[in-house]
Parts: sequence; structure tokens; C-alpha cells
Amino acid sequence: MTESQNSPSLCEAADVVVLGAGPAGLVLATLLHAAGIDCVVLERASRAHVQTRARAGFLVPNTVRILDRHGLADGLHRHGRRHGTCEFRTADGRFRLDYGTLGHGEQHHVYPQQNLVTDLLTRYLDRGGRVRFHTEALAVHDADTPRPSVTTREPDGRPARWAARYVAGCDGRHGAARRSLPPGAVRHLHDHGVTWLGLLAGTPPSLDAVGYALHDRGFAGHMARTAEITRYYLQWPRGVPADAWPELRIWDELDLRMRAAEYGPLRRGPFLERGIVDLTCDVVEPLRHGSLFLAGDAASLSAPAAAKGANLAVLEAELLAQGLVDALARGDMRALDRYSDQCLAHIWRAQEFTGWLTRLLHAVPDRDEGPESPFHAALRRSRLDSLRTSRVHQDWFAENYVGV
Ligand code: APR
Repeated sequence: MTESQNSPSLCEAADVVVLGAGPAGLVLATLLHAAGIDCVVLERASRAHVQTRARAGFLVPNTVRILDRHGLADGLHRHGRRHGTCEFRTADGRFRLDYGTLGHGEQHHVYPQQNLVTDLLTRYLDRGGRVRFHTEALAVHDADTPRPSVTTREPDGRPARWAARYVAGCDGRHGAARRSLPPGAVRHLHDHGVTWLGLLAGTPPSLDAVGYALHDRGFAGHMARTAEITRYYLQWPRGVPADAWPELRIWDELDLRMRAAEYGPLRRGPFLERGIVDLTCDVVEPLRHGSLFLAGDAASLSAPAAAKGANLAVLEAELLAQGLVDALARGDMRALDRYSDQCLAHIWRAQEFTGWLTRLLHAVPDRDEGPESPFHAALRRSRLDSLRTSRVHQDWFAENYVGV
């Protein structure tokens, strides 16, 4: 037996134990700490990893309002950039949607998520907030009682146990919270049948818009991250590894699908990161199981086409913080009781729009007739034509594209 395996488990406590230091966990912990609630964040990665992990970057107006409400948007306003245009490129030509002038006239803020996470973490720690890095949550116990606990593996490998009044599962789709759900939990899982090769390019954006290119060879996407960094996507054969193609071949394919010959060359540069993303989505119902609450990717995951993930995470974190503060500071359980239904209404709305956009952008293999049936190809062209010509359809698009 090693020394760590036979030593007694450490036992610590907090009113609220938050699992995960991503957008959901950090917004939640920041709001709880500001309200004087005793909480701790348990994060299995290092601080450096959490602060440098490149993820999403498109923040909707509601997210900005929430961050503004709590004084957490300084970095965003200083370094973020507004974004309000999509450009669709198809065999029938290209068209632009200035979604910032459609619907409710709202735009995205483009601000790399690692910058937002760094802002949140710095603020939380500077104000005395507790985070335990290199601390992996293994399981949540007794969630169906008022005294749940979390078993962890400490940085030195020793087992420990955290006693809590509430546990917030903000540890993503594969975290301990999801693994600890009771049998009654329902998980809706859907596979859109599409895979992306996600690329982070060290080169300035090539368009002043979010680029959505539909091509017989597959979808290609362009999303600015900063003035020097651009994210590209290629619809990719499922099962083929990310490093299957050399950089030159990838850039040539991006040029082809984005019709660079017609609309201008893409600004090439090194690929800093590559990753494979299967466009699947899932929703857990309900989001509350006794003293255990789910938020962020632990609650639901939507396909990345409409960049909803981090925005739902921030919304859910604020709603959960309000409920926990009401319950712990005032004994008022009403907000906690309605947390799950309130969040699920937003989640399903985001799932519906993201599913619509995913089906619009991709020829999905048709089980019976090969790559895509002529029927579904005709439906997609008609949907795009409606989006190109109908103001009412464009207003609907804009409202859902920047809505959460
Ligand atoms: N124990 C402790 N920490 C864990 C564990 C575990 N068992 N499992 C995962 N984590 C940590 C991860 O290291 C990560 O820092 O939980 C955190 C989860 O953060 P995110 O994956 O960013 O999830 P969330 O906060 O829900 O944000 C959701 O933000 O990342 C973007 O667009 C992405 O949709 C996603 C959104």
C-alpha cells in the first residue's frame, strides 16, 4: 500500500462546492463570493491551463449585460470587438446578413474565452475566492440529502472529501457531476451526423464577417477571434484524424470551399491548433437532483455552429447564483425550485436554432441515398433563398443568432 492510499482522507467543507473553473463555475463562484456565500471551486487542471485554453469567443448581448451587472466586463469592453455580420457563400452566389441591424438590432462581442476566464479568475482570487487547482472531483455523494459531499483526488494523489450544503456541477460533459446523476436523470443525445476539423490560425481574419461557405465538397467556416487569430472549420470525414492533411492542402481546400477565386484569397498562416469536433448535442433533464445542480456543458451541449455554449453557461450561472443566495442567505427556496425549468426553456430554444443552422449549413449523409438526397439538397437551397430574400426570416435569424 502506498503512503497516500492508507492515509486518512482529508475532509474539508464549504456551503457550496463548485466543480470546474470554466465560464459557468467562475461566474457562479464570483457571484456567490460577492454575496458572502462560503464556496470553493475544485478544478482538476492547472491555473495556466484554464487561462490559456482556447475555446469559444462570441458573446451575445445578454451575456454582456450579465457581466456588466456584476462589474465583470471591463476586459471585454477594453479588448473585445463588436461583430454584426454573417456572409453566406454558395453555388448561387454570396449574400451578407447585417444581423446587428436586424431583429432587435443587437450584435455579438468577440472576446476570446480564455481572456474572459482569466478576467473572472483574477477577480475571484483577488477578492479572496477559493480555488483548488489540480484537484479532480471523483464523485458526488448523497445529493438526495441536505448533506451532499464530493470525493476528490488531491494534487498529491491523496483522497479527500468535501462536505457541502449544495454542489454545483460546472465540470462539463464528462465531469464528475454527470457521472453522479441518479437513475432518474434523462439525457437527450443527438448526433447531427457531421464532423468538423477545427483550426486556430495565426493569421488575421480574411472577412469582416462570420463566413459560412456551403460547397459540394462540404462546409467551411470562418470566425474572427482577435485581430491576429482566426478560427476556421472544415466539414471533415468522421474518423479521419486531425493531422491527416498537411497545412498547404488544408488552405487549398478552404480556398476552394470559400470560393476564394471569386471572392478573394484567404490570409494564410500557421495553424496553431487543430481539433476534431463531432457535431453532437445533448441535454440533461432535470438540471437539479436534490442538492446537486448542473450548469454549462454539464447541463447541455449544443453544436458549435451558433456559439451558444459559453453564453448559456453564463446565463445558468447567474440564475443558479441567485437561487443559492436566496436559499442560503434568506431561506427562500423559490428561485432554486424553478432553476431547472427556467434554464431548460433557454436550452431548448438554443438547441432548436442550432439544429436548424447545422442542417442549413451541412449536407448530411442520407442513410438511404448516399451523401445527401436531392430532396434534402433542394430543401436547403430553398431555406437559404428564403433567408436571402425574406426580411421576416432574417429578423427571425438575427433574434435567435444573438439570443440566449
Ligand atoms: N473535477 C474537477 N474539474 C473538472 C472535472 C473534474 N472531474 N472535469 C472537468 N473539470 C473542469 C475542466 O478542466 C474545465 O476547466 O471543469 C471545467 C469545465 O469548463 P468548460 O468545459 O469551459 O465548461 P463550462 O464552464 O460549462 O463552459 C461551457 O464554454 O468552454 C466553452 O463553448 C464551451 O460550451 C462550452 C462553454
